[in-house]
Amino acid sequence: MAPRPRTYTLSLLFSVAAFSSLATANCNGGSLNTSSWYYSVEKYPATVFDVAQETRRGVCDIGRHNLMADVTIIPNISQQIWIPPQVCDPDNKTCLIPENNATSHCIYGGPRLYYTVNGDTYDRIAQRLNITVESLMEKSSGNMTATTALQPGQFVKVPLCEPSQCILQPYTFSSGGYKDLADKYGTTVGQIMMLSPTYNYSTSVVNSESGPTIDLPISCTALSSNITVVD
Ligand SMILES: *[C@@H]1O[C@H](CO)[C@@H](O)[C@H](O)[C@H]1NC(C)=O
Ligand SMILES: *[C@@H]1O[C@H](CO)[C@@H](O)[C@H](O)[C@H]1NC(C)=O
Ligand SMILES: *[C@@H]1O[C@H](CO)[C@@H](O)[C@H](O)[C@H]1NC(C)=O
Ligand SMILES: *[C@@H]1O[C@H](CO)[C@@H](O)[C@H](O)[C@H]1NC(C)=O
Ligand SMILES: *[C@@H]1O[C@H](CO)[C@@H](O)[C@H](O)[C@H]1NC(C)=O
Ligand SMILES: *[C@@H]1O[C@H](CO)[C@@H](O)[C@H](O)[C@H]1NC(C)=O
Ligand SMILES: *[C@@H]1O[C@H](CO)[C@@H](O)[C@H](O)[C@H]1NC(C)=O
Ligand SMILES: *[C@@H]1O[C@H](CO)[C@@H](O)[C@H](O)[C@H]1NC(C)=O
Repeated sequence: MAPRPRTYTLSLLFSVAAFSSLATANCNGGSLNTSSWYYSVEKYPATVFDVAQETRRGVCDIGRHNLMADVTIIPNISQQIWIPPQVCDPDNKTCLIPENNATSHCIYGGPRLYYTVNGDTYDRIAQRLNITVESLMEKSSGNMTATTALQPGQFVKVPLCEPSQCILQPYTFSSGGYKDLADKYGTTVGQIMMLSPTYNYSTSVVNSESGPTIDLPISCTALSSNITVVD
């Protein structure tokens, strides 16, 4: 198994722990279930939130333990989810992309195509990319709405700001989720997903000694103050 936490996750864990020792003074560590096991998903759709509820773990604790891209992606039937030991202060929040009312109409640097996963809607994709859903849907067929379920395994063209660029950095992923990487490297969950369209956490966690290698889009920036949107 991969040597887990890197420096940045450690400091995150420490600050959460410091906060929670106040908040959960009543938590009796001895009554926690410290077992860790593989949970096999038996129905569709059962979300990672359902699994968290059922196993009484924090959804973000599960997400990070499994190197999940995003906990809002619905697992397939028979997918194995590694359940972490129970903790006093389950984290259900810090891995979720906040509703931040995006104002951008295009992404910097690319890539051009987003590959849909289980549970996607235009709304969700736009949120992952931090662009407006209207701009993402500009070229979609008329019968689609922002919340229509999209079939997984299809390409959606993402509007690109031109001229713009990113630096691509190969990165060995050994702890956390895409939101942690996006926050640390100043990029978006959506752009990381676009660069590794078939990323599958369950195969990564089970089969890997050192963690999967993905590409990170970093330093994504406009190259002019006169930006046009390429659809
Ligand atoms: C922890 O939970 C699992 C699954 O519910 C259960 O099988 C196991 O016996 C529990 N462990 C303890 C120590 O209670
Ligand atoms: C987080 O989720 C777990 C399991 O779903 C639940 O038991 C817990 O109360 C939640 N904690 C918070 C702070 O919402
Ligand atoms: C990931 O891989 C597992 C088994 O290796 C498979 O069961 C699952 O369907 C795959 N998940 C996705 C999202 O492709
Ligand atoms: C985003 O918009 C919603 C309502 O449309 C509002 O409730 C929320 O506070 C806004 N969020 C931010 C970060 O501005
Ligand atoms: C989203 O984009 C806005 C500008 O449109 C920026 O201020 C904000 O920091 C971005 N948020 C994330 C999480 O990338
Ligand atoms: C699992 O789900 C993904 C979408 O999230 C889909 O593309 C893939 O084909 C599925 N894999 C299997 C083995 O069913
Ligand atoms: C929308 O129309 C397209 C053809 O233009 C069709 O392939 C698709 O299935 C329709 N989607 C829905 C949700 O009706
Ligand atoms: C901005 O770029 C577009 C297309 O590249 C060009 O037509 C337009 O004149 C430019 N506007 C300014 C203010 O430079």
